Parts: sequence; C-alpha cells; structure tokens
Amino acid sequence: MSFYQIMYISSASGTVTPSQCATIARLAAASNRSVDVTGLLLFNGKRFLQVLEGPKAAVERIYDRIMQDDRHCAMVKLREMTIEAREFGEWGMVYDDSANPTASLKDKVVALLDRAGPSTRADFIGSAGMYRDQTQPVI
Ligand SMILES: Cc1cc2nc3c(=O)[nH]c(=O)nc-3n(C[C@H](O)[C@H](O)[C@H](O)COP(=O)(O)O)c2cc1C
Repeated sequence: MSFYQIMYISSASGTVTPSQCATIARLAAASNRSVDVTGLLLFNGKRFLQVLEGPKAAVERIYDRIMQDDRHCAMVKLREMTIEAREFGEWGMVYDDSANPTASLKDKVVALLDRAGPSTRADFIGSAGMYRDQTQPVI
C-alpha cells in the first residue's frame, strides 16, 4: 500500500498565539487521525511548515480545507508525491515561541527529521528556510 505526502509552508495572517496554535494542532490531530493521516505541524510564531501523510484522497481533502483557512496565507507547496511508507509515523507538533529554542525543541525536531528520508530532510531543512541546520533553528 502506498501513501501520499504533501509538505507546505505558509505565513500566519496575523498574530497567532501559542494557545491558538495549540488549538489548531489539537483539532488537526484528532481530525487527521480519524482519516488515518499523520504528519507534522511546525510553527515558529510567524510561519507554519506542515507535512501530511496518508491515503491520497484524505490528504488532498485536508490540504484543500487548509488552503481555505484565513489564519494563514502565502502557502507554498514544497513536496507532493506518492511514498511507500510514512516518513513521519505519528502526528507531531512542534511550537517554537522564542529565538532561543529549548534543547527539547531541538531534540524533537531532530528526532522527527531522523525518521524522514534524505530528500524529505533536504526539502524540510533547505526549502523551508526555517532551519539553518538540524540543531540551530532560525527565526
Ligand atoms: C496552519 C494550519 C494547519 C492546519 N492543519 C490542519 C490539519 O492538519 N487537519 C485539519 O483537519 N485541519 C487543519 N487546519 C484547520 C483547517 O484549516 C480547518 O479550519 C479545519 O479543518 C475545519 O474545517 P471546516 O471548518 O471546513 O470543518 C489547519 C489550519 C491551519 C491554519
């Protein structure tokens, strides 16, 4: 069985607070789980980076819904492809609200990237421009 993967970045439309972001992530996790979609939502206070993985129709449906959401704008799709196995096996959420992220945040990002394949890793780190390297988040 194959899966579908979409990765995108976007910018928060206005100020998105930590609690608003947590709410988005909590609702997303519950809704995605119900249709067997996993992935990752990363937010650094200004930009979102999200990876959705699961059955193609479900991933596309969720992506279309997210596109309509006015809490963010300037969505740029970084990857869209069929994958043989999930690269982010569980739902992950990383929120960073400071220019000096804690070690646990860094550990979490590194751990999530560790499970991804080399090309996903490269897109994640390179195209997103959110991380200069795996351990030095740049805001
Ligand atoms: C950055 C961002 C990421 C989101 N990710 C998801 C997601 O993974 N799954 C999901 O169901 N909704 C996600 N949402 C919320 C959807 O845009 C939408 O509000 C929600 O699915 C409810 O849609 P509905 O009002 O049409 O039912 C996200 C919203 C934002 C701003």
